[in-house]
Amino acid sequence: MCGIFGAVVREGDVTPAILDGLALLEYRGYDSAGIAVFTSRGMERRRRVGKLEILRNALAKEGFGGPATIGVGHTRWATHGGVTEANAHPHSDSKDELVLVHNGIIENYLDLRGDLITKGHQFLSSTDSEVLAHAIEDRLQTIERGGARQHPDISALEEAVMSAARAARGTYAIVVLHKRYPDRIIVARQDSPVVIGIGRGAAFVASDVPALLRHTRSVYYLRDGEVATLTTEGVGVRTLDGKVVSYRPQEIAWDAAATDRRGYPHYMLKEIEEQPDAIAQTAFDRLDDENGDVRFEDFDVSDEKLKSAQRIQIIACGTSLHAGFVGKFLIEEFAGLPVECDYASEFRYRTPLPSKDVIAIGISQSGETMDTLKGLGQARERGAAILDICNVKGSSIPRMSDATIYTHAGPEIGVASTKAFTCQLVALYLLAIRMGRARGRLSRDDGRELLLSLRKLRPRLDALFNDAARESVRALAKKYQGSRDFLFLGRGLNYPIALEGALKLKEISYIHAEGYPAGEMKHGPIAMIDATLPVVVIATRGRDRDKTLNQLEQVRARGGRVIVICNAGDADARRLGDDLIEVPATSDHLAPIVNVIPLQRLAYEIAVCRNLSPDNPRNLAKSVTVE
Ligand code: AGP
Repeated sequence: MCGIFGAVVREGDVTPAILDGLALLEYRGYDSAGIAVFTSRGMERRRRVGKLEILRNALAKEGFGGPATIGVGHTRWATHGGVTEANAHPHSDSKDELVLVHNGIIENYLDLRGDLITKGHQFLSSTDSEVLAHAIEDRLQTIERGGARQHPDISALEEAVMSAARAARGTYAIVVLHKRYPDRIIVARQDSPVVIGIGRGAAFVASDVPALLRHTRSVYYLRDGEVATLTTEGVGVRTLDGKVVSYRPQEIAWDAAATDRRGYPHYMLKEIEEQPDAIAQTAFDRLDDENGDVRFEDFDVSDEKLKSAQRIQIIACGTSLHAGFVGKFLIEEFAGLPVECDYASEFRYRTPLPSKDVIAIGISQSGETMDTLKGLGQARERGAAILDICNVKGSSIPRMSDATIYTHAGPEIGVASTKAFTCQLVALYLLAIRMGRARGRLSRDDGRELLLSLRKLRPRLDALFNDAARESVRALAKKYQGSRDFLFLGRGLNYPIALEGALKLKEISYIHAEGYPAGEMKHGPIAMIDATLPVVVIATRGRDRDKTLNQLEQVRARGGRVIVICNAGDADARRLGDDLIEVPATSDHLAPIVNVIPLQRLAYEIAVCRNLSPDNPRNLAKSVTVE
């Protein structure tokens, strides 16, 4: 979950590039930040508790003793050890010659640490990560003192990193620099994302692609069990036991400008506003209007495979899981297939059932979520075919899948997912149509009609992106910012949207919120309703609207304060709501896309009213790469 950025360049100073790279990765963790570089004074390191800004200010007051052509930085999301400067990365070895940053969890760190303490190592932090710095130091000493070399064709440092990594159990992306090997950065990976950027006379390493784009678009996603050596001459990759890996860098299509805030006060707002374009990019090149069907690029899944499937298993976490709940409705209806949709963290530990003729679909913005990755691995072991819907090309989940549908949302930096979610909904809509057509459940005309609704959606979204729409949500945010709790209700396809509305509010405003199926409210949560509880009810026109309005009556009868999401001109919904958010009309199947947008905006505006930073909510990280 932590952010890592490292660079080695022929000339210039890497410090500003490292700080800027970390700024783009801060969404991964902001408990503390640190940087280490080699200058003419030797290894210099600064670490600070809190956001990167605090480290930047410290460096502005007391910078390093000169430019550095090699260095590494880290933003931490604490797992082992409190949020203190001693626990901040980079960590160093006993002699301050080696520095190391780590993302992941070393499960056997207590055993390793015990052995090293017996050998005289002293630990200065309570992290699991520091043990790796000492383990590498220990092995390096042995090798340099003439210990038997397994790979005399590589430097002692690489060999020491390989040996220490082989002894570590758990997950890691590590980056190592050493004073006596000042021309190289060593990177190793197991189950934690890390990407190498290959530039001209320069090489970079980062936890995620957006941080690299200012320097290069040529990247290589290091794979599990690989170790890379980065120098200004190029990048070499080997396996943990020293075998040379011949790798092909890939070119990233995103441009660096896509990672800027472009004048918006927060990434989250920028990403909310980008949704009409992101939805269009995810949808329109794939529509085969003539045949009422969908063509995904590089999606090698035959009609036979889709026909023979007996069940779909969706696996995801958080917001992506909510998209999966919508997908369940769509696939069951369009393709006539039973769909189960599970929290990945639960699925991966359930009793294995054989899953032949099951298609497992992983949904993930980042493509790196550990629970989803492991859940899909479980599904594969049980015999399922694996598909995924993902926003990040080349990330771990697409790499382990049989086929991927990419959402073309562009980089999503805000911790609270917004545009990736609506693009996931579009991708699921398209996939459900593809499955329905392949299985003969949807006719060509049915397919055409569904595609036409999607084409009509884009211009209708404009009604959510004008000043009046923005202002009306802002006014509601001001009115309700002081509430202690919120309840979100929705039915059918809008039930997952109620869950998502509640999740957004919890994540960035820290207001307790629950999403509930509207019809289930009377079985419990109705007890909470009083004049202090705002209840957001999604009641747009469609098959569930009348029933939802009935539930709304029940809330009103108990004095609840109701905010209704309804279509323009719906007099009944108007009558029942204390406050309204009007949204454009669309089909039942596409209503979740429309209805979630004002809920994202409401959460954003409430966070701003409460003086909170929507891009960096406390305790959260964007990409959850640990268990
Ligand atoms: C979304 O706002 C969250 N921060 C979180 O729930 C997220 O959706 C979840 O961690 C899954 O991430 P992924 O889509 O990258 O797999």
